[in-house]
Order: sequence, then structure tokens, then C-alpha cells
Amino acid sequence: MTRVDGQVAVVTGAGSGIGRALALALADRGCRLVLADVAPAGLAEVDAACAVRGADVLTAVVDVADAEAVEDLARRAVERFGGVQLVFNNAGVALSADATDQSLADIRRVLDVNLWGVIHGCQTFLPRLLEAGEGHLVNVSSLFGLLAAPGQSAYNASKFGVRGYSEALAVELAVARSPVRVSTVHPGGVATNIARHAVVGSRGDAEQLRATFDAMARTSPDEAARVIIRGVERNRRRILVGADAKVLHLLVSLAGARYIGLIARYAERSAPAATASLRMKEGAGASSGLGVSRPARRLARRRR
Ligand SMILES: NC(=O)c1ccc[n+]([C@@H]2O[C@H](COP(=O)([O-])OP(=O)(O)OC[C@H]3O[C@@H](n4cnc5c(N)ncnc54)[C@H](O)[C@@H]3O)[C@@H](O)[C@H]2O)c1
Repeated sequence: MTRVDGQVAVVTGAGSGIGRALALALADRGCRLVLADVAPAGLAEVDAACAVRGADVLTAVVDVADAEAVEDLARRAVERFGGVQLVFNNAGVALSADATDQSLADIRRVLDVNLWGVIHGCQTFLPRLLEAGEGHLVNVSSLFGLLAAPGQSAYNASKFGVRGYSEALAVELAVARSPVRVSTVHPGGVATNIARHAVVGSRGDAEQLRATFDAMARTSPDEAARVIIRGVERNRRRILVGADAKVLHLLVSLAGARYIGLIARYAERSAPAATASLRMKEGAGASSGLGVSRPARRLARRRR
């Protein structure tokens, strides 16, 4: 069991969504909190909400993509509280775009925040946890760290990366019989602001993306925080959040690489018209072939 009550916990991306819910739930458990976010407004709001709960809070405006800023956060946390036991590497951003419809700058930013942000958090705090002989790193990946989806190549790369990094670290710590633990979190759809702030490719439809996300994100941030904290307490190496994550995790486990064909067929059926109009914009036969569905091709031919 990892003890949560009364511990010192760091939460990145604490100003909104899952990070905010984690901060409030940890405040309710008597934790002292180090809350970091790149956006000051959300941070101030969650700081006030935690203060109402009686929590001792250090807030910091930090871009997790900046290694020195994360190191500075760790220094300030230790200075203020003497040590840290729980680190929730949660900050993340979304990018929804076909592989041929995204800039290198957008891809880099997603990797810098989602993958390097987690790596910075681990590389910075791990030596301190090892020295103290206790602690738990909690790295937020995604359902998209378990399965790939169209329009998610950069996000998928970042979240598969978080999983690979975290699981390798978990193996190393197990071999070393270290008391320090690592959990990787794979949420399915959680009703947060992530889609509202997502970067969308030039051929994408931001409104449609948000509407689809809102319809599919069935888990509340509070429920996500509850499941994550329970998983941490039970030392779960892989924490699945939501029925969607559990079902699709099972699908990938059973189907192996065949899941790719199944996801492609699902994507064709759910948005054949959209896919067809996308291909028509690309020009007949000019497509990369990614996501070109049979119904979409048929529809495109009829319109030509
Ligand atoms: N909401 C979902 O359906 C879902 C599903 C799977 C995984 N996730 C992951 O959960 C985590 C939390 O996302 P959320 O859904 O709560 O989104 P959210 O947008 O509500 O909150 C993310 C927070 O991270 C902060 N942030 C963004 N870039 C940052 C940076 N460079 N440095 C520090 N803070 C930064 C934002 O300001 C925001 O406060 C992310 O890693 C996300 O990829 C979310």
C-alpha cells in the first residue's frame, strides 16, 4: 500500500480537469500540496478551493516542457515541505490532426509537454524519492497510450512514450527492489477542457471534435481522481480510468495488432461522409492512403 493521507503531493496541470480534481481530493485527504500549471488563472482558483479545505498549498506557474523550471519546482517543494512523497505528472495537451495535416511545431509541442513533461518530472523527483527511500510517481498517459486512433499520431506517440518510459522505470525499480513505485494512468474519456484547448489540423473541424468529445467523455474528473488515488494506494502499475478504457484495453490485449483493422472499420462507419469530404479536398488519388475508407472512396467517386 502507498500511503496517501497527510503526504506531500506534487500535481502538474493542477489548474483544470483531472489535475484540479486530484488536487481537491488530495486536499480532502490531508495532503500538503505543490500545485503547478502553465496557466495562472486556473491555478489561483484551485489554490483558493484547496485553502477552503484547510490544505497547505504551494503554487507555481511552471511549463513542464522546461526542465529547469521543473527542477526549480522540486527545489521549492523540498524547501517548503522538507520532502515530497507523491508526484502526479498530469499536465497534458491535445492535438487532433491527420498525420499529413500537422506542423512539426505542433507535433514537437505535444511531445514536449506530454512526454518530456513526464520525463522531466520523473528525472527531477526520482533521485529525491530514492534518497528518501519512499515515494510514488504517477504518470498520466491515456487510453491512447494503449491503442492508436486516426488523427492522433502525435498524441499517440506522446502517450505511448509515457507508457514505455514509465513501465521501463517500473521494471528497473522492481529489479532493484526499490520501495519507490511508478503507476501509469490510462484514462478513457474524462469530461474536462482538454478538447476545448486542443490544436486541430487545418482540415479538421474544431466544433465537431469538441461535440464528439463531450458526447464520449463519460467519466467525471472527480471519479477519475478517485480511481487514480485508489490505484496509487493499491500500487497498481497500470491504472485504467473509465469503462471505455477497460473495454478497449481488453480489445487490444485480445486482438493484438488486429485491433488496427477493427479501429479503422469503426472510424469508417462513424464518419464516412467526413472522411470522404476530406479525401475530396485532398484531390482524387492524392491522399496518403491513411484512413481512406471504402464507403468514403465510393462517396467521393460519386461526387466527382
Ligand atoms: N480528458 C480526457 O479525456 C483525457 C483522456 C486521457 C488522458 N488525459 C490526460 O489527462 C491529463 C490531464 O488532462 P485534462 O483532461 O484534465 O485536461 P485539461 O485541459 O482540463 O487540464 C490540463 C491542464 O494542464 C495544463 N497544462 C497544459 N500544458 C502545460 C504545461 N506545458 N505545463 C504545465 N501545465 C500545463 C493546462 O493549463 C491545464 O490546466 C493530460 O495529460 C491528458 O492528456 C485526458
